[in-house]
Amino acid sequence: MSDRYAVFGNPIGHSKSPRIHALFAAQTGQDMSYEAILADKGGFGAAVAAFRSIKRGAARGANVTVPFKEEAFRLATRRTPRAETAGAVNTLSFDAGEILGDNTDGAGLVRDLKHNLGCDPGGRRILLLGAGGAARGVILPLLLENPTELVIANRTEETAARLALEFARLPGCAVDVKPDGTGFPGLSGRRFDLVINATSSGLSGASLPLPPGIFASRGVAYDMVYGRETPFMALARESGARVADGLGMLVEQAAEAFFVWRGVRPHTAPVLAALKGT
Ligand code: ATR
Repeated sequence: MSDRYAVFGNPIGHSKSPRIHALFAAQTGQDMSYEAILADKGGFGAAVAAFRSIKRGAARGANVTVPFKEEAFRLATRRTPRAETAGAVNTLSFDAGEILGDNTDGAGLVRDLKHNLGCDPGGRRILLLGAGGAARGVILPLLLENPTELVIANRTEETAARLALEFARLPGCAVDVKPDGTGFPGLSGRRFDLVINATSSGLSGASLPLPPGIFASRGVAYDMVYGRETPFMALARESGARVADGLGMLVEQAAEAFFVWRGVRPHTAPVLAALKGT
């Protein structure tokens, strides 16, 4: 019987993960199923337990999306270093009595930047917008690529300051991680090779009060949101930046989870092309 996997979230109806993993499984010849499961807001742990208790095929793992990544972190009995640093878990592996928690989001972003967009974060000046869970999850993987600097700016400045301080203290962190200091207006007069929008502002259609001129010519503007043109993308486009949405990150974080579970790395380009085609 096939090994079973699922993605848990709320809402979950529009998740592309079942399609992505079905394409990966077909491409690599893996015998597995993958379904989307809507968990009640207070019922994440129970939903995972119910999924694991079904005897038809072994439940091997799960992805976790909004709003359960912090709960998944607590549910895990062991966690990878990258999950520990992110403070959130998006990939669970079930191994006998253990639940291993991992976080593949940051690796997914870096892989999308490097392999799909030809934008190596190494040696670049990076601006990260936002200081919530999405931002936290990508900081360490970005720092490991050795950017020249990583500036974190956020609407609530003190959250950015706290986050920057935490990462600047990491042993061996030679990169200049710093908060912007004065919120978005303080970015005035500065220029970045890579600007990553990790705020949820695009989901509500809100624009960020970014000063003009922050995008270096031929710089990359990356919005983690996908499936819509956000005000951030529109501003970046007007400023002459190369704009990318988060669809590539979605596919790459899925590929990393697939690799964690199955030990096989699927080719992502055909899957990304298939998703863009519909
Ligand atoms: P996530 O896990 O998706 O990061 P989160 O932890 O709620 O979600 O964080 C949302 C981020 O988007 C925060 O950085 C938030 O800024 P604040 O810390 O000031 O709340 C940012 N954000 C959301 N809506 C925004 C808006 N309209 N303008 C600017 N920043 C916004």
